[in-house]
Amino acid sequence: MLPFNSLPSSLILTLLISLDSLGGLSYGAPNPIAQPLSIPLVRRSQKPRDITELGTWAKKQRLALEAKYGIGQTSDKRSSGMNLLTNQNADSSYFGSLAVGTPPISYDVILDTGSADFWLAGSNSSSIPTGIPTFDTSASSSFVDLKTSFSIRYGSGAAAGTLGSDVVQMAGFEVSNQTFAVVSEVSTNMLTTPVSGILGLGWDTIAASGVKPFWQVLAETDGLLDEPVMAFQLTQYIDDSSARSSEPGGTFTFGAVNSSLYTGDIDYQDIPDGSAGYWILQLKTLNVQGQSLTLSGTSYAAIDTGTTLVGGPSSMIASLYSQIPGSAAATGEYDGYYTYPCSTEVSISLGFGSSSNTWSIDPSVFKLAQLSQDSCLGAFFELSSSGSSTPEWIVGDTFLKNVYSVFRASNPPAVGFANLSSIALAMNGADGSLPTPTIGSVVAATATGAGSDRAQSSGSRTGGSVPIQGLFILVASCLLGVLLQ
Ligand SMILES: *[C@@H]1O[C@H](CO)[C@@H](O)[C@H](O)[C@H]1NC(C)=O
Ligand SMILES: *[C@@H]1O[C@H](CO)[C@@H](O)[C@H](O)[C@H]1NC(C)=O
Ligand SMILES: *[C@@H]1O[C@H](CO)[C@@H](O)[C@H](O)[C@H]1NC(C)=O
Ligand SMILES: *[C@@H]1O[C@H](CO)[C@@H](O)[C@H](O)[C@H]1NC(C)=O
Repeated sequence: MLPFNSLPSSLILTLLISLDSLGGLSYGAPNPIAQPLSIPLVRRSQKPRDITELGTWAKKQRLALEAKYGIGQTSDKRSSGMNLLTNQNADSSYFGSLAVGTPPISYDVILDTGSADFWLAGSNSSSIPTGIPTFDTSASSSFVDLKTSFSIRYGSGAAAGTLGSDVVQMAGFEVSNQTFAVVSEVSTNMLTTPVSGILGLGWDTIAASGVKPFWQVLAETDGLLDEPVMAFQLTQYIDDSSARSSEPGGTFTFGAVNSSLYTGDIDYQDIPDGSAGYWILQLKTLNVQGQSLTLSGTSYAAIDTGTTLVGGPSSMIASLYSQIPGSAAATGEYDGYYTYPCSTEVSISLGFGSSSNTWSIDPSVFKLAQLSQDSCLGAFFELSSSGSSTPEWIVGDTFLKNVYSVFRASNPPAVGFANLSSIALAMNGADGSLPTPTIGSVVAATATGAGSDRAQSSGSRTGGSVPIQGLFILVASCLLGVLLQ
């Protein structure tokens, strides 16, 4: 999702649409208790990137060898880790888990490359919907109240609270003093159980708090990561009529890419000069039904895992649908969207930067919803003309679930795409068990709904993979809080 100040007002209206009102989707019985799952963490040998890092590398090699033979102290560091995701409400959003505090308690959070602040719903608030697991600052011995107010507005709502600092752990990595917001006010529909907050994975330059995000702190720690990357494989359930409200969501890999999830090479395209803030790429090619459209303006696109659909300039969206016979601008609450005949298979592909590759969107993914017998709603919608400092396009999960996507922090900052492997594609629509909240290296208790007892952490620390028993509270009737975040 993009912070509010970068979104045009027309989008805010479109945010009011929910799949509830679109109909045509149904969910089976919820799976009440997730199976415990073991999350393997990866150790890889680190190759020095340049001479200045050689010392760090050499030290790490020595410590690793000493540790292997039981010499000296064991390093708790890892070069990469992963987090299994959950797909919420038929591809509406994807969340992962992290843990906060001492003892660590795990929370589910939306992983959002389109914003850069981390916040959790606080327990000291009456505006947090019941059933949302909340963070109790008094239950963490390491929490520091920074007594600084925080507020952020997204297209889909707002959140406000206070900044604090605590231990944050995710995918096997830890930042001991990460600043984040404990939110006491949040708009209706910003959080859908069991999600407790948002983890912004954009750059500090767009952080409302001004705080350097968790991922960036780690990516800028010399010698820590195998590669300075975050990679996503997102699953697809939108075309599965029996999809449950929570389904396996794919994989978030931190510090490395997972070669079993993609084929060929990752096609990295640099973020245009000075644009690191959002993960921006220049949209260079837009093919619709075999026709290549002429793009206008800079065509900067924010690559945004926290947005469900794809938004673009009105004129470009109009010319896109003009290639689809029988399409028409939708009206009323669907203003900004277009309908088209459901019998039409819409093939769209996008190309970025200087690459000659284009990436196709599955026609069944483009078909956002069926409104009537032969009227379907397309997943590309209009953003009215935006300010010069904001991207013209927001490329969300409608696109990202068709590819393996990699967000690279340096050498230079870039976003890369690759085709999904058959292993990854086999996860689409599959009946898998839901991931259990995990933080990789430390056994954590799982936060439960407000008012419930919290389990205690075992506190044991290990260097390997540790299963974390978690409980997902699924609300069958809760179809969708937010279509776009
Ligand atoms: C919430 O926090 C405020 C400020 O720290 C405090 O004054 C108030 O008593 C707290 N309320 C509850 C219910 O804990
Ligand atoms: C956080 O901890 C690190 C390492 O202990 C330290 O270098 C850094 O200054 C701390 N940052 C803040 C904001 O306290
Ligand atoms: C890569 O992904 C596969 C499929 O999800 C998984 O089984 C494997 O553990 C992952 N490997 C690494 C190194 O993370
Ligand atoms: C991705 O897969 C498509 C369809 O199989 C293929 O046409 C295309 O060349 C592949 N792209 C890359 C970069 O491998």
